[in-house]
Amino acid sequence: MGCRSLFDQVIDRRNTQCVKWDGVAEIFGKEDLLPMWVADMDFYPPEAVIGAVKARATHGVFGYETKSAGLDEAVVEWITIRHDWVIDPTWLNHSPGVVSGLATAILALTEPGDQVVIQPPVYPPFYSVGDQNDRLVVENPLIVKNGRYTMNLPELEEIFQSGVKLLILCSPHNPVGRVWSRAELLALGELVVKYEVTVLSDEIWSDLVFHSQKHIPLASLSTGIADRTITFMAPSKTFNLAGLYLSNVIIPNQELREKFCDQMQRLAQGHTNVFAPVAAEVAYRQGKEWLDELVTYLEENVEYVKAELAKITPKIKIAQPEGTYVLWMDCRDLGIPAEELNQFFVREAGIAFNDGVMFGPQGAGFQRMNIGCPRSLITEAIERMAKALEGYK
Ligand SMILES: Cc1ncc(COP(=O)(O)O)c(C=O)c1O
Repeated sequence: MGCRSLFDQVIDRRNTQCVKWDGVAEIFGKEDLLPMWVADMDFYPPEAVIGAVKARATHGVFGYETKSAGLDEAVVEWITIRHDWVIDPTWLNHSPGVVSGLATAILALTEPGDQVVIQPPVYPPFYSVGDQNDRLVVENPLIVKNGRYTMNLPELEEIFQSGVKLLILCSPHNPVGRVWSRAELLALGELVVKYEVTVLSDEIWSDLVFHSQKHIPLASLSTGIADRTITFMAPSKTFNLAGLYLSNVIIPNQELREKFCDQMQRLAQGHTNVFAPVAAEVAYRQGKEWLDELVTYLEENVEYVKAELAKITPKIKIAQPEGTYVLWMDCRDLGIPAEELNQFFVREAGIAFNDGVMFGPQGAGFQRMNIGCPRSLITEAIERMAKALEGYK
């Protein structure tokens, strides 16, 4: 039908229990919103993945399973080729989600009352995995200059000097879209080694970096850093498989690995479902071209939104993302009170964004827009925003 890209296809996701579309009324208080919030995409995964899941479903018996050696082999190969990081298969474990893995690691490595440092504005569960487990979350906010975010390493050093022993790193960073450079990660790594800090490096977005960028796994920088790092990666964002619940946890240090695995056992968390390993293995083995095309499409979506939004108003500024499919929009110049901003877009534009303040107090006056959808939905969003913002030029 003349589709320019397979990602142009609009898929009706309603009535599939998906939180992005079907959960919107409950969460935003209004039906029929254009959902540009929670981070999954409105795309099919690679065709081979759907085929493999269907084939497994056709077998029809869904009993307990052994670990999948094929999956582990595919993960190791993917990380070697895509991220130039050679990992030993014994370092690799799986948790249902990255967040459940973060929680497991926090329970394994810290005690109630211990401090955990995070770098807001950041993915909200970085707060809740600490808070809900009675750990004290310490903020090391990112610095922003001319809309570009960097880490505040001098402040982080002071925090480490005060005795904090655990950092949750977001790399690439959601919501600001930074893909940390080698120099930035080396500087961070130096502090981590010097102050004997352990890093939970959430690299769930590592495969979704734009063509001019390169994701560098923190632990690939040196054996000293690898020794202090637990790396989380997953096929969930990459291939849009979040609802299958499978992520990769890479722990080179044997002592850390044993602590993590013991905690997994205590929580009886060591299993996934029958479909996830099948889907993930095929995605890693056959999804490269699909992913390259996806990244191109997402980059084009970013440029499209920036160009169209600039025509509507100069008062919304977008932090230039280097990866991910979320846009961090600074709406403070609109003059709408921060606490009303999200509902302004709900009410006046019929769009559900994530409210910036969810990502930390630094996000007040910001909204996060998910552009992981067909361009026609973005056009619709732009049209709705243009109408809503008529009085705000
Ligand atoms: C930085 C980051 N970590 C983790 C997740 C979610 O991971 P999971 O669904 O595997 O728990 C997200 C989802 O948006 C994310 O942005």
